[in-house]
Parts: sequence; structure tokens; C-alpha cells
Amino acid sequence: MTYDPAGTLAQWWHEAERVAILTGAGISAESGVPTFRDARDGLWARFDPERLASMQGFRDDPDLVWGWYLWRMAVVWNAQPHAGHRALTALAATRKKLPVITQNVDDLHERAGNPDVIHLHGDLFETRCVDCGEPFPAIEIPDRAAQEPQQRVPPPVCGHCGGIARPGVVWFGEPLPEPEFLLACSLAGTCDLLIAIGTSGEVAPASSFPSLVKERGGRFAEINPEWTWLTPHADLSWRATAAEALPELLKRVEETAKSG
Ligand code: OAD
Repeated sequence: MTYDPAGTLAQWWHEAERVAILTGAGISAESGVPTFRDARDGLWARFDPERLASMQGFRDDPDLVWGWYLWRMAVVWNAQPHAGHRALTALAATRKKLPVITQNVDDLHERAGNPDVIHLHGDLFETRCVDCGEPFPAIEIPDRAAQEPQQRVPPPVCGHCGGIARPGVVWFGEPLPEPEFLLACSLAGTCDLLIAIGTSGEVAPASSFPSLVKERGGRFAEINPEWTWLTPHADLSWRATAAEALPELLKRVEETAKSG
């Protein structure tokens, strides 16, 4: 048997009534946004998550944490969606519905025109007051933010209660936003094909989605150049990057549709 992950996945694509996508940091990597667990340049290899991604860390040193998130905002702001993001949007147009459940806090799926994105871990740009929850209007990202991840910048002050701004991401120890969490679980629990792209599968609840699909007899496929915690559950592991695999999948889905 020849190894033809694109052909197999394209066939499953047509056989499935409901398809859902799960994405992680790896889908943004080829746009220049770092992943978390890469041993060399992953965020958690270079920075301490307890200091930078927890409420305690924020209370201890808000200027350091705010400066770090301004840097992350600048990195995303300067990044562009790649061919894989665009292919995913084109794939969505081939079906009535293609929900994209993402663990990413960037907006690259949206900027690639994807109409149905569920952010499980929040949104980098949705800043709100740490005390009263009031959303902040557009945050100004200084030019130098892109160069300096460890600058100290005081967060803006809330006009309502005098509290300070925090980024709209989920920190360690915090619950996920409930509507997105419930929707993602329900989509994973009802689809018959789930495709995970660029996630290590180390973090719940995304780590449990493959079992939800498989328990009901659905298929689970992953696109990732490396082994992941989801690999043992995978009916298909396509060892390629997102920018390589997704345009190829689109091509094969279109070819299979034509040949009937
Ligand atoms: P990780 O950094 O844990 O995993 C990234 C995955 O992407 C790895 O499995 C890589 O092999 C893969 N990868 C790298 N380059 C790729 C490429 N070009 N194409 C496809 N895959 C590629 O990131 P996540 O799984 O997203 O949470 O991490 C999950 C959560 O852990 C994040 O949302 C974040 C983090 O703590 C919060 O911040 C709440």
C-alpha cells in the first residue's frame, strides 16, 4: 500500500457528514509566530509561564507581563496568514459548515477569511480591565514592542474603575471561556471527522477531543511534522507542515469532488 495521506484524507473528507478542525500554535509557525513547546525557540523554552501567564505573575509584576504581551501582539500584528491558512478557508467553502476550534490567541485564521473560528484560549487583542472586566478600546502597540520581549510597560488604566488592562488570553489556572468550551466539546462530540493541525495535544480539553470522536466511531487525523500526544489516537498522522499539507489537501478534495 502506498502512503498517500492527502488522498486518504480527501476521501474521508467526502465520506464525512460533519467535519471539524482543531488547530494549535504549529499552524501559525510558518507565519513567524513561535509555538510554545519547541525545545529551541518555543515560548515556554525561553520564558517562564508562571511569571508571564498566570494571575499571580501579573499581580507581582504587571509592567513585565504587559510588556511581554505587547511584544506578542506586535509579532502577530506583523505576521501574515500563509498558504495553509488560506487553503483552510477555501476548504471551508467546500462544505456547509467547517468549524475551526483553535487554541491560538492570534487572529490569523480570521485574517485569512475563515468565517467560523472558536477561540478556546481567548484572544490576544481583546484586552479587558483586570478588576471590573470592562473591555479596553484598541490598544496601541509601540513600534519598539516587536523587538523587545522583556520591556517593562505599565498597562493602561481603566476609565471606569481605575484597574489595569490585562490581555484577553486564558492564563494557567483560569477557566476557559464557557460558551467556547461548551461549543467546542459539542462539535468534537458530534463530528465524524476531526483533523488536528499543529498541536502537541498536551493541553486539555483539546487533548481529549480525539477520544470523543473515536468513541462514537468517527475518524481522527492529525497534520503535524512530529509525533504528538494525539498520535496514539490517530487513524492518520500526516507528517508535514500546515503550509505544505493544507494546499495539497485542498487540491485533492477538489479533484476527488470532480471525479465524483
Ligand atoms: P505546542 O507548542 O505545544 O505544539 C505545537 C505543535 O505544532 C507541535 O506538535 C509541533 O510539532 C507542531 N508544529 C510545529 N511547526 C509546525 C508546522 N509548520 N506545521 C504544523 N505543525 C507544526 O502548541 P499547542 O499545542 O498549541 O495555552 O499548545 C497548546 C496550549 O499550550 C497553547 O494554546 C497555550 C500553551 O500553554 C495557553 O496559553 C492557554
